[in-house]
Amino acid sequence: IPVDDFDLVIFGATGDLAHRKILPGLYRRFVAGQVPATAQIIGAARTKQDDEAFRAEARAAIQEFAGKGDDLSQLDDFLRHLAYVAIDARGSDGWDELKARIRPEGVHAFYFSVAPALFGDIAQRLASYGIADTNSRIVVEKPFGRDLATARALNQTLAQHFAENQIYRIDHYLGKETVQNLMAVRFANMLFEPLWNAQYVDHVQITVAETVGVGGRGEYYDHSGAMRDMVQNHMMQLLCLIAMEPPYHFDPDAVRDEKLKVIRALEPLEPGDIVRGQYQADGDEPGYLADAGNPQSRTESFVALKVRIANWRWSGTPFYLRTGKRLRARTSEIVVTFKAPPHSIFDESDGPRSNQLVIKLQPNEGMDLTVMIKEPGPGGMRLVQVPLDMSFADALGENGTDMPDAYERLIMDVIRGNQTLFMRGDEVEAAWAWTDPIIADWEAGSKRPEPYDPGSSGPDEALRLLHRDNRRWREIRP
Ligand code: BG6
Repeated sequence: IPVDDFDLVIFGATGDLAHRKILPGLYRRFVAGQVPATAQIIGAARTKQDDEAFRAEARAAIQEFAGKGDDLSQLDDFLRHLAYVAIDARGSDGWDELKARIRPEGVHAFYFSVAPALFGDIAQRLASYGIADTNSRIVVEKPFGRDLATARALNQTLAQHFAENQIYRIDHYLGKETVQNLMAVRFANMLFEPLWNAQYVDHVQITVAETVGVGGRGEYYDHSGAMRDMVQNHMMQLLCLIAMEPPYHFDPDAVRDEKLKVIRALEPLEPGDIVRGQYQADGDEPGYLADAGNPQSRTESFVALKVRIANWRWSGTPFYLRTGKRLRARTSEIVVTFKAPPHSIFDESDGPRSNQLVIKLQPNEGMDLTVMIKEPGPGGMRLVQVPLDMSFADALGENGTDMPDAYERLIMDVIRGNQTLFMRGDEVEAAWAWTDPIIADWEAGSKRPEPYDPGSSGPDEALRLLHRDNRRWREIRP
């Protein structure tokens, strides 16, 4: 889909996110023909350098972080779109120059790839220097607050200068191909939706497992923990997309209204429904405490939760969530386990087992549905469970392997003015309102997270969280 001409300003253009994600993502969209000939990408940061130096920096970043299959032959052409303005977010340097660089026509987007403490300063200067107007868009990154009060304050600060329909709060999970596919699977098929409720679904599991530790970003992470870093945002979004009612249309507010209703229907968590963990050292590999640089830390690098949704559709069907660092494999998946058939006409030992729909988000995107069939052969009516496995890459051929990265898709949505895959302010606040009391309880208490071995599936208590309900987690495997 063609996009309008644009000027995109990246505040924090010399930072890690710009290097790793934003610039390589924009390059890929350029190669895909989605960067109009006169579009400008203006880096803005404190470092004093000229356009050429920034282009050289961007070149190095794209070479380092572009995908393996990416064609870098158009890099020079792409770099011509780049410019740079040295700017002081808290002072006056650079703002007049930035204003002069932006063309009056076209889409104006401002990406705040900076610490949230600077959001207010930048928003205020964009307004007072007359750089942004009521058609401009701003993009902000997580962490969007660290609790309800700070998120509310951030929303209020931004609201002084921008309307809600100008604010694009990124949750990069919403930019992942399979996450959007969740909506396609649910709402473009007749097959699943009639069964998608407590009457037929036994329980849902959402796992986001990572093999990396927090080394290198221990300081940020230790003030955050898995609950703030992953659950309040990414996992909450996955939960919402699975649990929400069908929106009346695939339209930003219709979708976000339905997600908000799910968050508001979450029951407060009981202490017994929560398991927190911290990874241990492994030989020479440091454990969490060393990675965080805080031997006393009580921050969790793993969390497992049993979540209940108090509404008509889901009452009685638990959602089990778990996420952690330094686990056995990097894998993100959602498992919907259906109830067993009410009565088996087959011998008990060969009786049917529950169907499971596994939605794999990464590393290999696809879906898997387990069904019972008869085991081939003359041995009588013996049942066997087999997967109906669909890898999107296999099913879609070439088109299935070249999926845009979450960031490139989301940046293009900003340029197109489509907020469907961005979080609305009230959603973010509702999510914090749910996680706040849980985190406050931990912070007030003295309990340490349970230790777990790197390369494991997390603490044993997390396994017991399901065992006590006569259920088990799907194994974490690559
Ligand atoms: C980030 C978290 O938002 O998401 C990180 O801050 C986490 O701690 C990352 O590693 C996971 O993203 P992805 O896309 O690699 O699953």
